[in-house]
Amino acid sequence: MSLKVLNHKVKTAVIGATGFTGEKLVEILLKHPGVDLTYLASRTPKPVAYSKFFGRFRKKTNLFCEPLDIKKAAKKSEFLFVSLPHTASMEYIPYLIMQGKKVVDLSADYRIKKASNYKKYYHKAHKDKVNLKKAVYGLSEIFKDKIKKAKLIANPGCYPTSVILGLYPFLKDGLIKGEVIVDSKSSITGAGRKAVIEYHYSNIANNFWAYKPFVHQHVPEIEAILKEACGHAFGLLFSPHVAGIEAGIYSTIYVPLKKKISRETVKKIYDSYYRDCPFVRVSQDLPKLKEVIGTNFCDIGFAISPDSRYCMVVSCIDNLIKGAAGSAVQNMNIMQGWPETLGLL
Ligand SMILES: NC(=O)c1ccc[n+]([C@@H]2O[C@H](COP(=O)([O-])OP(=O)(O)OC[C@H]3O[C@@H](n4cnc5c(N)ncnc54)[C@H](OP(=O)(O)O)[C@@H]3O)[C@@H](O)[C@H]2O)c1
Repeated sequence: MSLKVLNHKVKTAVIGATGFTGEKLVEILLKHPGVDLTYLASRTPKPVAYSKFFGRFRKKTNLFCEPLDIKKAAKKSEFLFVSLPHTASMEYIPYLIMQGKKVVDLSADYRIKKASNYKKYYHKAHKDKVNLKKAVYGLSEIFKDKIKKAKLIANPGCYPTSVILGLYPFLKDGLIKGEVIVDSKSSITGAGRKAVIEYHYSNIANNFWAYKPFVHQHVPEIEAILKEACGHAFGLLFSPHVAGIEAGIYSTIYVPLKKKISRETVKKIYDSYYRDCPFVRVSQDLPKLKEVIGTNFCDIGFAISPDSRYCMVVSCIDNLIKGAAGSAVQNMNIMQGWPETLGLL
């Protein structure tokens, strides 16, 4: 860690601090050596000690969570994490950017460049096309150079993080022939803290189901980002599932192969793309979800079918860390010129 990091702590805010991802951000940022957490906000009607919301923060912070006042947020911080539901973020971010702040937005509001696709999948016209154009997609394993210079980061979605990292080397090297089938399983926290009857304990505990097959809002994000990164389109059949577990995303990706390929070659290809990526761990074995829970790692493993027509890639993450708060802090580290792993290992 450089002295510069210790000498100047960056005043940092979390907007949406009572949500699942906001809470995880606070947990990470309180321990981060480059950060001074100065402002927390939500829809709370009056300021409330943060530890009243989450008892595990008692004696860890005296901060209060306040009703969101965007001018106060900008005054009290240099760097802001916006952890609001989609369509709410774009109400506030234009002001923060105008004030010269650095922002990482965890919602989908700045991820999809094609505004018509945003409207189709998020059911509202985009209100901030100027910043939409400038925002950089914050998947640091692929877009690090752009992230270094960015003022506004569109932090990737949780499913897209696991799927894009799993698929990128294959697509980039032109090894795919035909449509890719992705079967992703997410924990219940992927849906946010809102109360929905379907997610009540009695329904979700020990339960598991598929939803939004082929049409999930993360499909256009995965397709567009991989097209941008690899230079060509591909066919994607995406079926998400929700499981009665607290954390994690486990994506099983069936890649139709253009030609026969050995396990050793596949491993070499992944290693060549992710050699300098501290949070991607590639193995010839299939990963297990619990090994990434509570970490910022994406674990990738694979198997080749006996007839060599398919490679099955498994890519798993903790949805609240590598799929949200952890990757957001990884982006902050890169934007600030700090070591990418600072506060995250
Ligand atoms: N959960 C995940 O695994 C995950 C992963 C990647 C990305 N994301 C994205 O990250 C964002 C946050 O997700 P989450 O799961 O943390 O959601 P969440 O649990 O529903 O939390 C939302 C937060 O935003 C606040 N909020 C909602 N509407 C607001 C408004 N109009 N003004 C001010 N504050 C408002 C809520 O405050 P109150 O508590 O006062 O209502 C809460 O603090 C979403 O856009 C989501 O899609 C989530």
